[in-house]
Amino acid sequence: MSELDADAKPNILITGTPGAGKSYLCERLAEQLNFDWLDCSKIAKEHDYVEEHDEEYDCPILDEDKLMDHLEPLMQKGGNIVEYHGCDFFPERWFQAVFVVTCPNKTLYDRLKERNYNEKKLSSNIECEIFGTILEEARESYKADIVHELCGETAADAAKSLKTVKQCEYLQQTSCISV
Ligand SMILES: Nc1ncnc2c1ncn2[C@@H]1O[C@H](COP(=O)(O)OP(=O)(O)OP(=O)(O)O)[C@@H](O)[C@H]1O
Ligand SMILES: [Mg+2]
Repeated sequence: MSELDADAKPNILITGTPGAGKSYLCERLAEQLNFDWLDCSKIAKEHDYVEEHDEEYDCPILDEDKLMDHLEPLMQKGGNIVEYHGCDFFPERWFQAVFVVTCPNKTLYDRLKERNYNEKKLSSNIECEIFGTILEEARESYKADIVHELCGETAADAAKSLKTVKQCEYLQQTSCISV
């Protein structure tokens, strides 16, 4: 498999617990950076990249290989913001920067409650946030200096996150950003 095309824009990963505020940020980032926003859950649903349905947690189990085959040519071109609530199965070489969106538990609880998640799904997601599971997963999967934590609670947090991403050293180096 080939690397990022030489003159391509970088690829960014936005990860974090469900409901933490990834899509909210990605939508704004994609518009401001003029990158493509690839929401993996949405892509998996649209193309049926689903192995089975987990009844207990009431969620689809992703067929990771199919999703990666779909993403590979897009990643090679660069200029993508990839969103997913996990990050350890993507090839490390895909991303030049990784951002983990986190959210205070109370706010996250309210957001997930609003989605009518069942008790099991709700508590496992809240635990995921309390234990910093995705942040740890990101730090274990990518070089420490490309992993950044962002807060996804308020509009002001999102504005701050947009600045942080735009100021990210690698993105500046590739001069793909006109701030
Ligand atoms: N920074 C923010 N300020 C205010 N509201 C926000 C912010 N981020 C997210 N929200 C709100 O919280 C809810 C969940 O956000 P969002 O859909 O972005 O989460 P997500 O991390 O993309 O979830 P999923 O993993 O299911 O895709 C939405 O109603 C969204 O409008
Ligand atoms: Mg989302």
